[in-house]
Amino acid sequence: MTELSKFGLRVFFDDATQELTFGEGVVCGGGSSKHLQKMKGLLYRDSAAENCDELCYVFCHDIYREEDRHLFEKRQYANGITVLMPGTMGGECRKNSGHYHGYVPGHICTFPEVYEVLTGEAVFLLQESRNFDHADEELKVETLRAVFLKAGEKIIVPPFCGHCAINVGEGPMAFGNLAAPSPLLYAPIQQRHGLGVYVLNIQGRIVFVYNSHYKDLPQLTIVQAHENPALGITFGKSVYESFVSSPERFNFLDEPEQYQEEIEHMLG
Ligand SMILES: [Fe+2]
Repeated sequence: MTELSKFGLRVFFDDATQELTFGEGVVCGGGSSKHLQKMKGLLYRDSAAENCDELCYVFCHDIYREEDRHLFEKRQYANGITVLMPGTMGGECRKNSGHYHGYVPGHICTFPEVYEVLTGEAVFLLQESRNFDHADEELKVETLRAVFLKAGEKIIVPPFCGHCAINVGEGPMAFGNLAAPSPLLYAPIQQRHGLGVYVLNIQGRIVFVYNSHYKDLPQLTIVQAHENPALGITFGKSVYESFVSSPERFNFLDEPEQYQEEIEHMLG
């Protein structure tokens, strides 16, 4: 049993049953899981997923202390945890599906999202595109970035960035997400067999391989995540604690336009 203490609530991952469990007073709105066979169409080598019923990841949503429920419901924020299993699929590190977020209604920007690594070692891929919702056009990728994160570290996924999480460590990798209610667009990623790069583990080395289903990809850059306490992002404090103590710091989740530059500066 691993306690995910970085989350700021009593949450555990049971390695034997591969389930998330919750301490007294912590509620969870439900969960789901995805097995490798359902990752077919998104992988470096799709044959690795063929009829494979191994678990890829589990996900639980709407996790909070009962007394904090009103804070999340008032803003309709999703507050979830995903646990990605360790190991590879045809040489590729285990990952989730990847998606873009839709536009904030009445705004010129898409929804951002906060990710927080709770245990293990992660890479998050950020693939920026302004025409992600134009199905008839070639996807124009403006920037392609990878961020390595350890337990306690966090990022804000900037508007317009498709994203996916990858477990590059040896054990399970758990991460939390906090976001305003947002349409999730999976098709732009599915149509191209994943994001612009695949993350492989070759004899213990992490290797990025470009996805040949894309045309004219920019060069991948490795960026670092930085804190921004004014936006509630501090590596020594959980997102949960930051949010319940100062919900207004997370206004950028609902109105990202005025914070775009600040969010970009956090990815040096
Ligand atoms: Fe997302």
